[in-house]
Amino acid sequence: MFWCAFVVFFLALGNELHLSHATEVSVNNTENKLCLYANLMVNFSVTYEVGVNKSETVLFVLPENVTTEGSICNNTTSTLKLGFGDGHSWAVEFTKDNKTYQVDSIVFTYNLKDSSVFTNSTSNETKSVTAKPRITNVGVDTYYSCKSENVQRVESVTQTLYDVTLQAFVTNGSKSDTDTVCTADLTSTTVAPTTTVTTTAAPTSTPTPTLPTPTTGNYSIAPDFNSTACLMATFGLRIGFKQGDKVETINLVPSATEVGGACGVNSSILILTSDTINIMFTFSNDSKKFHLHALNVTVKPATGVAVVAANTNMSIWVAAVGSSYMCNKEQTLTVTETLTLYTFKLRVQPFGVEKGEFATAEDCGDDTKGSWIVPIAFGVALAVLIFIVLIAYFIGRKRNQGSSYEHF
Ligand SMILES: *[C@@H]1O[C@H](CO)[C@@H](O)[C@H](O)[C@H]1NC(C)=O
Ligand SMILES: *[C@@H]1O[C@H](CO)[C@@H](O)[C@H](O)[C@H]1NC(C)=O
Ligand SMILES: *[C@@H]1O[C@H](CO)[C@@H](O)[C@H](O)[C@H]1NC(C)=O
Ligand SMILES: *[C@@H]1O[C@H](CO)[C@@H](O)[C@H](O)[C@H]1NC(C)=O
Ligand SMILES: *[C@@H]1O[C@H](CO)[C@@H](O)[C@H](O)[C@H]1NC(C)=O
Ligand SMILES: *[C@@H]1O[C@H](CO)[C@@H](O)[C@H](O)[C@H]1NC(C)=O
Ligand SMILES: *[C@@H]1O[C@H](CO)[C@@H](O)[C@H](O)[C@H]1NC(C)=O
Ligand SMILES: *[C@@H]1O[C@H](CO)[C@@H](O)[C@H](O)[C@H]1NC(C)=O
Repeated sequence: MFWCAFVVFFLALGNELHLSHATEVSVNNTENKLCLYANLMVNFSVTYEVGVNKSETVLFVLPENVTTEGSICNNTTSTLKLGFGDGHSWAVEFTKDNKTYQVDSIVFTYNLKDSSVFTNSTSNETKSVTAKPRITNVGVDTYYSCKSENVQRVESVTQTLYDVTLQAFVTNGSKSDTDTVCTADLTSTTVAPTTTVTTTAAPTSTPTPTLPTPTTGNYSIAPDFNSTACLMATFGLRIGFKQGDKVETINLVPSATEVGGACGVNSSILILTSDTINIMFTFSNDSKKFHLHALNVTVKPATGVAVVAANTNMSIWVAAVGSSYMCNKEQTLTVTETLTLYTFKLRVQPFGVEKGEFATAEDCGDDTKGSWIVPIAFGVALAVLIFIVLIAYFIGRKRNQGSSYEHF
């Protein structure tokens, strides 16, 4: 009886260990020499539909047993493709230049038909999401090492990478002894400084965010249930905010954002709420023109402290009442010292929307201004140059006339 309980206990423990065991793979090139190596853990969290407007979230880990079919090693590009379960895959794309290599993207493909993972899924599609983790500046002939968690949220998928050892472009057929440690490990106090760090890239340099361009969201407010919109806005939004000395960036995910607000005669409000971002735009109607008057933003990052920023005397996004304001290029709005907004493909109309359609747009037009400034500046510079050359010529001629011809 006891024996039996022990066996069950150990089986359960074994199963538990098995679940959170690292995935280790090696890929050989056509000459049968090691060219890609990985030892890592990935946790997935996927939200999928189980009915009309009903969704469920499932958590699972990258299993120990994976296939490497479809992995490719070339001179400057490589793909590590791990296949698992019923039609799921996790593919890491690497590129290399002279001294360093990097991960360009991670494509996670999941098959919603697999009912052992996606119970009661109403869809039988195979979906893919592309994440852009910050794995850059890894020295050639070193392996990338990162114990810290690297969380990638894309649409309805969250991937957590941790305890990562990765080497692409392996040269002499065996994994390197030197590593390039990720910045997160270097700054975390729990990890002892490694002596084998090969700093091809200065670890102190602030990591440049490589978030994908945010998805463009369509937001509208209607005064009541059965009427058309009175406020409309479409844009992609990224927020940069300070965490200590570091600047973090986060994208607003439209599909996970709730829309609220109100339309008024003198002012209209748009409120967007996701689990990490809460933002309120206040627009003013100054009789002939409107403008964005105030912004109140709260960011609650998954780790770290919440950042609140408000600015109540802004005067941007100006256009005539009855028209819309449009700016396709990326715009930077500094709300406070600690928080900045970046908008993409923006179009807003906070007043006087008719038939649920945008009215004619007033473009931010900086693009066309910019294209004029350059040739004008060039022309002016050229004229000045010609003038200087002419003056110099005349002065030179005068001097030569004044003096003798002994120079020749
Ligand atoms: C990953 O998932 C495993 C099993 O669900 C869990 O034990 C572990 O804490 C998770 N790790 C992270 C970093 O989320
Ligand atoms: C489902 O969501 C859509 C759009 O969000 C909405 O129009 C519809 O009424 C919702 N249906 C139910 C049953 O809640
Ligand atoms: C699976 O997809 C096909 C093609 O879209 C569809 O005809 C079929 O009904 C789907 N099956 C299930 C179980 O949803
Ligand atoms: C709007 O809804 C109200 C109450 O439900 C109804 O009496 C009214 O006729 C509706 N208006 C339109 C334009 O559909
Ligand atoms: C809008 O502003 C005008 C001029 O400032 C004022 O007379 C009017 O009462 C305001 N209307 C509302 C609804 O607040
Ligand atoms: C904007 O304000 C003016 C004067 O304050 C008012 O006459 C006009 O109706 C307002 N426009 C809208 C669309 O509310
Ligand atoms: C901004 O929003 C926060 C939270 O909703 C609120 O406490 C704060 O007073 C607001 N600030 C301004 C200037 O409106
Ligand atoms: C914002 O308000 C401050 C003081 O309240 C003022 O000095 C500043 O000029 C205002 N900025 C703008 C853009 O109106």
